[in-house]
Amino acid sequence: MIRTRLIVANWKMNPATPDEAHMIAKDIRKRARSFGRSRIVICPPFLFLEGVSHAIARARKMALGAQDVFVGAGAAHTGEIGPDMLKKSGAKYVIIGHSEKRAAGDTDDIVKTKLLGALLAGLSPILCIGEAVRNDHGDHYKEIRRELLAAIEKLPKKLAKKLIIAYEPVWAIGKSEKDAMQPAALREMAIFIRKILHDVFGKANADSVPILYGGSVTKGNGESIVKDGNVDGLLVGRESLHAESFADLAAEIGK
Ligand code: PGA
Repeated sequence: MIRTRLIVANWKMNPATPDEAHMIAKDIRKRARSFGRSRIVICPPFLFLEGVSHAIARARKMALGAQDVFVGAGAAHTGEIGPDMLKKSGAKYVIIGHSEKRAAGDTDDIVKTKLLGALLAGLSPILCIGEAVRNDHGDHYKEIRRELLAAIEKLPKKLAKKLIIAYEPVWAIGKSEKDAMQPAALREMAIFIRKILHDVFGKANADSVPILYGGSVTKGNGESIVKDGNVDGLLVGRESLHAESFADLAAEIGK
């Protein structure tokens, strides 16, 4: 099956101003004709969602996402942004359970609740999972299994259609190009994750769930990570702020 390639830009707490955010999004958009079967999702800080939404309006191969969502319901929550608000602001995707949010206090339970809230609001959640370290006993497989099951085990099967998994080994995030995970090891992990998805959702539902890789992806290593690592796309941090190389990466992968 020829699948769409999904390339998610996680801008984190960048850039510094709304004008810069608008400009980077526009620069990526200018190159959208070259994307082939790649689809780009830009996840700016909440504050810049509206500006980026204007910059990419009507670009068929681009969409808007948020980096997080509030865990609860109701309106009396100072400083929070709920899934329905995101949806109405034009976001179609939301990153959930990023390791930086988990480090800041998002437990498995919180991640599970955010995931369900996002799905019920009609958003596509990009669920991040990833081990902190690897060892020769393969404990990272256990960790991934636990993290993934904690989030998805009780989800209604029909909601799987909207789900996206981003495998981001924490040890590979924010490093240099050569420190990204090797495609051969990634291939094994992607099979492992796919098998868990099959067990939970059944083969038909699970096969349509994209599995992305994230962690020190660059224009230099992204294509081989997707093709040799056998994943459906990428979650890109720093490199996604460089419009030209990020768009080139999308074009290469989308060929
Ligand atoms: P990086 O970040 O590409 O800068 O390593 C990825 C992420 O944290 O999602």
